[in-house]
Amino acid sequence: MDNKRITDSIFNVGCDDKDIDLFEGQYVVPNGISYNSFLIKDDVNILIDTVDKRKTDEWLDNIQNELKDNRIDILIICHMEPDHGGSVQALIEKFPEMKIVGNEKTFQMINQFFNIDIENKKIIVKDGDELPFGKHKFKFIFAPMVHWPEVMVTYEETEKVLFAADAFGKFGALDTDEDWTCEARRYYMNIVGKYGVQVQNLLKKASNLDISVICPLHGPILKDNLIFYINKYDIWSKYEPEDSGVLIAYASIHGNTKVVAEKVEELLKEKYNVEKVAITDLARDDMAEAVEDAFRYDKVILAASSYNADVFTPMRLFLHELSCRNYQKRKVGIIENGTWAPSAGRVIKEELSKMKDIQIVEPIVTIKSSMKNEDIENIDTLLRNML
Ligand SMILES: Cc1cc2nc3c(=O)[nH]c(=O)nc-3n(C[C@H](O)[C@H](O)[C@H](O)COP(=O)(O)O)c2cc1C
Ligand SMILES: [Fe+2]
Ligand SMILES: [Fe+2]
Repeated sequence: MDNKRITDSIFNVGCDDKDIDLFEGQYVVPNGISYNSFLIKDDVNILIDTVDKRKTDEWLDNIQNELKDNRIDILIICHMEPDHGGSVQALIEKFPEMKIVGNEKTFQMINQFFNIDIENKKIIVKDGDELPFGKHKFKFIFAPMVHWPEVMVTYEETEKVLFAADAFGKFGALDTDEDWTCEARRYYMNIVGKYGVQVQNLLKKASNLDISVICPLHGPILKDNLIFYINKYDIWSKYEPEDSGVLIAYASIHGNTKVVAEKVEELLKEKYNVEKVAITDLARDDMAEAVEDAFRYDKVILAASSYNADVFTPMRLFLHELSCRNYQKRKVGIIENGTWAPSAGRVIKEELSKMKDIQIVEPIVTIKSSMKNEDIENIDTLLRNML
């Protein structure tokens, strides 16, 4: 793994995982994912978070290589989800004298995930508590629901390092050379997106700290231009659009609605010179990318076939994915297709009406089976009203 050394005393001993089929059971990760784990060498050796059990052996080797004959004295657990807490038992077995720092909920989860006695190892902390280990000074700041209830971030005062748990995480192994924003946004919107309020709370607490390094549990360690990353998190967690642009998301049974969606794309790009246009086939493309783009842009056009007096299933699923993540504050255009009794538009409208601050732009366009010239006029009116 690259970027092992973070400061003279802090090392990332985590692992890259490049052959996982689906992260968290559902997300494709074309460039893998990293499980970061941080070793702090001092008079005592401190470890912050473990790794997924897929990588336990490799990670224990990394620790041994850094420690030589020394041992881990303290394990601080920021997040117990198995992609981080998965190797807690293995570490306890390797270092039976080790103490564990966590909160009440952390220990409850250790007892649920593992069958081990940790009673004499516990150091229970409360929100805002501070503990010195060696020359390092740690402050524990609770961040409930970023992304589980037990989550806390840990601030190390002497080196000004924030161990941020899942916050500021990104898909992609550490040796992947790719734009941070795109895969961090897909990660954030899908995994943390529901908890904007809680992320805002964390950002407020963190604004009182003097931070020079952010160590997330996935993706690169952030050292330069931290304001860039914090600004992105601020926009995302307020549910503000990041860019002016349009996502066209379609669900088409036999391909006629796809033709309509592609016409919309052409008009937006060529007639209206919209620079940022994304188009996604909800049945075939990565749904997580569609969710990401719906949050990224200020406008969305939803086009779908009618389906058994309802809307074609991939669109229903997409609307569910959006509403689960508190989708809001966007302009939406609707195009339905039906052959005998079009129903897609009504269902889409009903689902959108359950979300906050969604402006449905008129007219709702109805296509009967396949696109005709007069349909293009209606679509054009919709686009003019949207832009
Ligand atoms: C299983 C199934 C159910 C359908 N249910 C409806 C329906 O309830 N109302 C309707 O107007 N059309 C219905 N249709 C027709 C589709 O909406 C039709 O495929 C669409 O109008 C054409 O666009 P497409 O090629 O993008 O699918 C149904 C089609 C299928 C295959
Ligand atoms: Fe998590
Ligand atoms: Fe995670």
